[in-house]
Amino acid sequence: MFELEKIPGLAAILYNAVAARGFKSLYKKLAEEIVTEVKSGKVLDIGTGPGCLPIEVSKLNARLEIIGIDLSSKMIDLARKNSEAAKVDRVGYELADAHNLPYPNDSFDFIFSSSSLHHWRYRNQVFREIRRVLKNDGSAYIWDFRKDASKREIKTTIVSSSFYALYLSWALKFHGLRTEEWRALDNRFSVRWNGALACLILKKND
Ligand SMILES: C[S@@+](CC[C@H](N)C(=O)[O-])C[C@H]1O[C@@H](n2cnc3c(N)ncnc32)[C@H](O)[C@@H]1O
Repeated sequence: MFELEKIPGLAAILYNAVAARGFKSLYKKLAEEIVTEVKSGKVLDIGTGPGCLPIEVSKLNARLEIIGIDLSSKMIDLARKNSEAAKVDRVGYELADAHNLPYPNDSFDFIFSSSSLHHWRYRNQVFREIRRVLKNDGSAYIWDFRKDASKREIKTTIVSSSFYALYLSWALKFHGLRTEEWRALDNRFSVRWNGALACLILKKND
């Protein structure tokens, strides 16, 4: 099936409205994991979308210098507006492609990404880029959905509201990776499984 890479304008506006409300508790959980892993330094968010996750991270640890990148200029506009509204000023946004990160080697202490992996055309190329720009001992947490998760798994691990669980079980037709695709990654890297969500962990020195 044809998979969209960057999210176009109107879909970005819709995604912003849904994500900000529907995934609020998920962003909070992921932000808590991130600030447990990284206490200071430079952090990159790949496929930041409307910036909801870096904003939550910055609220928990304002010392982190975070850059969110996205292929969609509409998403970058929305992310800047959302950061301004949240009065978060240590998060910057740049239009960039994960396949060709515009940063020198060894730039970031930590990298995260949520719900963007399934869009990447050449995953191995992005994994190489992530390792290149990570500092020694740095790691990357790349979260995405399990496309074939049950409604029950969606409700227990992602959204407790029945309305958003219904929306997400429809949206997972177009988002996330099938369990078998996650297992193939798990054979090569480390994957942390959590119901409808999985997290690929890449380390610079692996
Ligand atoms: C489903 S949205 C997720 C947004 C956000 N991370 C979140 O959790 O709400 C996926 C985002 O990844 C971006 N994206 C897809 N391919 C990309 C690439 N190669 N480089 C940078 N961003 C990309 C899309 O434009 C889109 O904004």
